[in-house]
Amino acid sequence: MKKIAILGSTGSIGQSTLRVVESYPDRFEVVALAAGKNLESVVEQAKRWTPRLISVADGRHAEALRAGLKKAGVEDVEITCGASGTVQVATHPYADFVVSAIVGVAGLEATYEAVKAGKTVGLANKECLVAAGELITAEARKQGKPLLPIDSEHNAVHQCLRGGKMHEVECIWLTASGGPFLGTPARDFAQITVEQALNHPTWKMGQRITIDSATLMNKGFEVIEACRLFNLPPDQVKVMVHPQSTIHSMVEFVDGSILAQFSVTDMRLPILYALTYPERIASDMRFPVMNLRHLEFQPPDVEKFPCLRLAYEAAEAGGAKTVALNAADEVAVAAFLEGSIGFTDIPQVIEAVLGETETGKMESIKQVLESDSEARRLARERVIRIGGATRPVPALRGD
Ligand SMILES: NC(=O)c1ccc[n+]([C@@H]2O[C@H](COP(=O)([O-])OP(=O)(O)OC[C@H]3O[C@@H](n4cnc5c(N)ncnc54)[C@H](OP(=O)(O)O)[C@@H]3O)[C@@H](O)[C@H]2O)c1
Repeated sequence: MKKIAILGSTGSIGQSTLRVVESYPDRFEVVALAAGKNLESVVEQAKRWTPRLISVADGRHAEALRAGLKKAGVEDVEITCGASGTVQVATHPYADFVVSAIVGVAGLEATYEAVKAGKTVGLANKECLVAAGELITAEARKQGKPLLPIDSEHNAVHQCLRGGKMHEVECIWLTASGGPFLGTPARDFAQITVEQALNHPTWKMGQRITIDSATLMNKGFEVIEACRLFNLPPDQVKVMVHPQSTIHSMVEFVDGSILAQFSVTDMRLPILYALTYPERIASDMRFPVMNLRHLEFQPPDVEKFPCLRLAYEAAEAGGAKTVALNAADEVAVAAFLEGSIGFTDIPQVIEAVLGETETGKMESIKQVLESDSEARRLARERVIRIGGATRPVPALRGD
C-alpha cells in the first residue's frame, strides 16, 4: 500500500489524484492533505479519505475547518495551517509519495522539504522547478529519489526516455496546443478578455495555468522545467504547436529516431504513471487509436507570444532570472484576472521585471524566496505604472 500526501488536494490536479486513488483502493492510501481556502471541498475530502493530517491556508481557515469537521462527525484528524503546515504534510512520517500540486511558488518550500525528507515526489507544480529547479533536482540526486513529472509533457518525455540513454538524446520536442488564441491575429490581442483567456481548447485546469497557456508562458515554464528535470540546455528543448494535444511530447535521438507518447488528454494518466512508476498498471483510459485522423504541427510564433521568448532568455541565464520570470508572471496574471491590466500587458510586466533583475545563481531556498519577493515588488510597481491597482498577490509564507 503506497501512502500518499497531496499538496493542493482541492485543486484540479489534487482532485484528479484522488480520483486515481479511488480507482485503486488496494494500492493507495491518503495520509495527509494540504489545501488553501476551499473548506467545503476539504471537509468532503476529510470525510471520504480520513487522512491523519490536514493543512489549510491560515489560522482562520483552520478554525473554520475544525468546526466543519466536528459538524460532519469527522474525528481524529490533526489540523494545521500556513506554510509550515504545508511542510508538515509534505514531510509526514507515514507518507512515501508526495504529490506536489499547489499552484505557484506557494508550493516551493514544501516540495523542497519533501525531497529533502527522502520522499518520492510526483511533481505537477512546475513553478517550483522554474524558481528553484537547480536546488530541488540537486537535492533529489543527493537523496537518490526520482522526481516524477506529472505535467503531461514531461511525463511523456519521461516515458520516451525509457527508450534510450541521455547521451543519445538529440533534443526534446515539447508540444503545445497553442491555447485559445492560436488563430487570433496579434492586432486583436489587446482586446482579449479574461473570459476568453480562461477558455482553453483542450485542457480543463486551474486559472493561473490556463492564462499561462493562453500567453504560452506555460510552455516557456515547461522548457525550463524540462531543462532542469532532464539536465538539458535550452537549445535541446524545442517547442512545437500541435493543436490536437494528442501527442504529449517527443524525444528525438541522435540516430534520427523520434519516440512520441500519446494517450487521452486526461491528467489521471500521468498521475497514475507517477504513482506506480517504475511499474505500469491497467487502467480504463483507452485512446481510440482507430479514430486518429489528423495531426497538425507548426512552429510557435514568438512575435505574437513574447512570453515564450522571455522564458527561453531566462532559461539561458538561469538563477535569479527564472525566479523573476515566475514571480512577475504570477503577479501579472493575477492583475489580468482581476481586470487591472490587459492581456498584452502581461509580457510587458514580465519583460520589465526581467530587465531590472541582476543575473545570479541561487544558493538556497531562502535566497530564492528573497529574489521572488523582490521580483513581485517590481512587478506590482510595473502593474501600477501601467494603470492597474493591485491586490496583494498570494505571498510565499501563506499570509
Ligand atoms: N491542472 C492541470 O491540468 C495541470 C497540468 C500540469 C501542471 N499543472 C500544475 O499543477 C499545479 C496545480 O495546478 P491546478 O490546475 O491543479 O491548480 P488549481 O486548480 O488552481 O489548484 C491549486 C491548489 O493549490 C492550493 N493552494 C493555493 N495556494 C495555496 C497555499 N498558499 N497553501 C496551500 N494550498 C494552496 C489550492 O487550494 P484551495 O483551492 O483550497 O484554495 C488548490 O488546492 C500548478 O503548478 C500547475 O501549473 C496543472
